[in-house]
Amino acid sequence: MTQRVAIIGAGPSGLSQLRAFQQARAKGAEIPEIVCFEKQNDWGGLWHYTWRTGLDAHGEAVHSSMYRYLWSNGPKECLEYGDYSFDQHFGRPIPSFPPREVLHNYITTRAKVSGIRDWVRFETAVRWVGFDEAERRFTVVSEDLPTRRVTRETFDSVIVASGHYSVPNAPSFPGIEQFPGRVLHAHDFRNAMEFAGRDILIVGASYSAEDIGLQCHKYGARSVTMSYRTKAMGFTWPESMEERPLLTRIDGSTVHFGDGSHRDVDAIILCTGYLHRFPFLAEDLKLHTHNRLYPPGLYKGVVWEANPQLLFVGMQDQFYTFSMFDLQAWTARDVVMGRISLPDTNRMAAHSARWVEREEALVGPEQQIDFQTDYCKELAAAVDYPAIDFDLVAANFKEWEHEKVRDITGYRNTAYRSAVTGTMASIHHTTWLEATDDSMKTFLGDGERRSVQLPTRSVAAAARL
Ligand SMILES: Cc1cc2nc3c(=O)[nH]c(=O)nc-3n(C[C@H](O)[C@H](O)[C@H](O)COP(=O)(O)OP(=O)(O)OC[C@H]3O[C@@H](n4cnc5c(N)ncnc54)[C@H](O)[C@@H]3O)c2cc1C
Ligand SMILES: NC(=O)c1ccc[n+]([C@@H]2O[C@H](COP(=O)([O-])OP(=O)(O)OC[C@H]3O[C@@H](n4cnc5c(N)ncnc54)[C@H](OP(=O)(O)O)[C@@H]3O)[C@@H](O)[C@H]2O)c1
Repeated sequence: MTQRVAIIGAGPSGLSQLRAFQQARAKGAEIPEIVCFEKQNDWGGLWHYTWRTGLDAHGEAVHSSMYRYLWSNGPKECLEYGDYSFDQHFGRPIPSFPPREVLHNYITTRAKVSGIRDWVRFETAVRWVGFDEAERRFTVVSEDLPTRRVTRETFDSVIVASGHYSVPNAPSFPGIEQFPGRVLHAHDFRNAMEFAGRDILIVGASYSAEDIGLQCHKYGARSVTMSYRTKAMGFTWPESMEERPLLTRIDGSTVHFGDGSHRDVDAIILCTGYLHRFPFLAEDLKLHTHNRLYPPGLYKGVVWEANPQLLFVGMQDQFYTFSMFDLQAWTARDVVMGRISLPDTNRMAAHSARWVEREEALVGPEQQIDFQTDYCKELAAAVDYPAIDFDLVAANFKEWEHEKVRDITGYRNTAYRSAVTGTMASIHHTTWLEATDDSMKTFLGDGERRSVQLPTRSVAAAARL
């Protein structure tokens, strides 16, 4: 009987998984029957932008956390696919920090040309996955959202690629109920123009805090105050942006901070990260972890040690993204197809424990970058994935970190060398701070350059740009 494999999610990780199987088939291998379940109406995961917040048209939780005018926060040379370069896709060098639409186009075009769309059941949410010990098969219960038809099927393997930046971690603070302005989590942030002319409080000190804070500044907020719990980001911010310790309480619109200072604000944006949540997995199949570089219990960061017929792709905190998802997907494919033989459970656990121990001793971003680079190298050594110069990727990441320290509003104006083709990126025609139009056409310089009309209240801010 043909082996059946379920893939949950058609975001970048799920698409890497589909590509991995398609590539094996293209090389003449007999592959399992693949069914990919995707609850959205199109593929691309977080990169599939929606104006919606809260619930979608079917009453499902909106998945995407991306917003208008989002540009890549890392160089594209650090996420490039080994088997589908940016040169191949665009036919010429493009700048290193593309806006969302450009990366969405890159990811989804590789999927399109792979001819794998028929493997995906769109608008189909997985509701339940359980494992039958006697049969050694999974039962997957899914719901076709437009018809509400529920289907129950069995699979030999399940690969979870459902992402982990969609369920908000939303702490509360004393007095927040009485705050007169808008309070939202980064997951529901869609357009910084809403905050033009306003004083904004951001809670958090990681990538969302940094980028949403900068977006608010770019599109005309009067001031942005960022409140950290553990450690300030410490960049040299524009004059109207500053960092303060964690807020302790809110009185009306006045926010009090741990250092005794206070500030009046109009809106609060919680950039406090996300929760790994798998409501559709039976308890004994659930990955319990926070956002970290090596979630325990996953051999090679992919194989569920307690039951290797269950695999996870993309569950790590991410310096590397698309290329790492590919390596994980190639690994998952080869485990499923019996090309990689697994050690016994104790050995898998001992292998993971060594990585976890190393992760826990890491100090600072450079060591974290080296860690994830070594992880990618280990995966690459065991699969037939095209070569990437990982040492160059690591060097690019480190240079990017230094550029951010040097100039937090200007780091996206720099160019990096591809670790796949060796091509040097071009320099974008407009600096990131001045580029208010994020369309692919304008980014590529193929169309008329236009700037987005900023709300009138932000004219002063626009003059500052
Ligand atoms: C605001 C933001 C900005 C980011 N910017 C960058 C960036 O600039 N560069 C970069 O490299 N990375 C960025 N990332 C990181 C991002 O995690 C990855 O780029 C990538 O989207 C992860 O892919 P994924 O497939 O693992 O998860 P996702 O993109 O989250 O995709 C998961 C998919 O699974 C589907 N799904 C979930 N549950 C079910 C279910 N029960 N049934 C059926 N389908 C389901 C979802 O609908 C979704 O399509 C950003 C993340 C965020 C939150
Ligand atoms: N393309 C882009 O420009 C862009 C933009 C936004 C996000 N992203 C991506 O999105 C992903 C998620 O980033 P993220 O910043 O949302 O999550 P994250 O990296 O997990 O960071 C979560 C932040 O929330 C803080 N936090 C958590 N609980 C808190 C609490 N109770 N009180 C105060 N602070 C609290 C954490 O502080 P501690 O340090 O104290 O734990 C940390 O600073 C990353 O992969 C990132 O690259 C990309």
